[in-house]
Amino acid sequence: MGTWNPKTMSVGVKEIDTQHEQLFEQFDKFSAALGTSMAREAAGEILDYLKFYVQWHFGREEDCAFRHQCPIADTNKKAHATFIKNFGKFYDEWQTGNMTDKLAQKTHDGLVQWFVNHVMRIDMTIGEQVNAK
Ligand SMILES: [Fe+2]
Ligand SMILES: [Fe+2]
Repeated sequence: MGTWNPKTMSVGVKEIDTQHEQLFEQFDKFSAALGTSMAREAAGEILDYLKFYVQWHFGREEDCAFRHQCPIADTNKKAHATFIKNFGKFYDEWQTGNMTDKLAQKTHDGLVQWFVNHVMRIDMTIGEQVNAK
């Protein structure tokens, strides 16, 4: 089973939920690609995609939080910036080619864990605010 669990992780806004599902699917795919013979290339392509998609999702979600005047909008935005920084570090290290699969897996797991917590604690309140109107 994948990381995405609609029962516990849906925030109740279709657009955001679809994007989260897509994000977690790609993170799972990256993890699965590690340790296979085609690891570097396949995993690298997934990371390229995630680099773009995460940014895009954050932008959409921040607009949504701002539009609905969510009290958590600023906290959400700051958390996103932290994630982008950490993901960027991971991405750059991966690009150097010195990262072992084991370390990549560990870093990946940490990033995904952060994302799950973020969705359940912060994005969830955005969903509540959007649906309260
Ligand atoms: Fe968020
Ligand atoms: Fe999000």
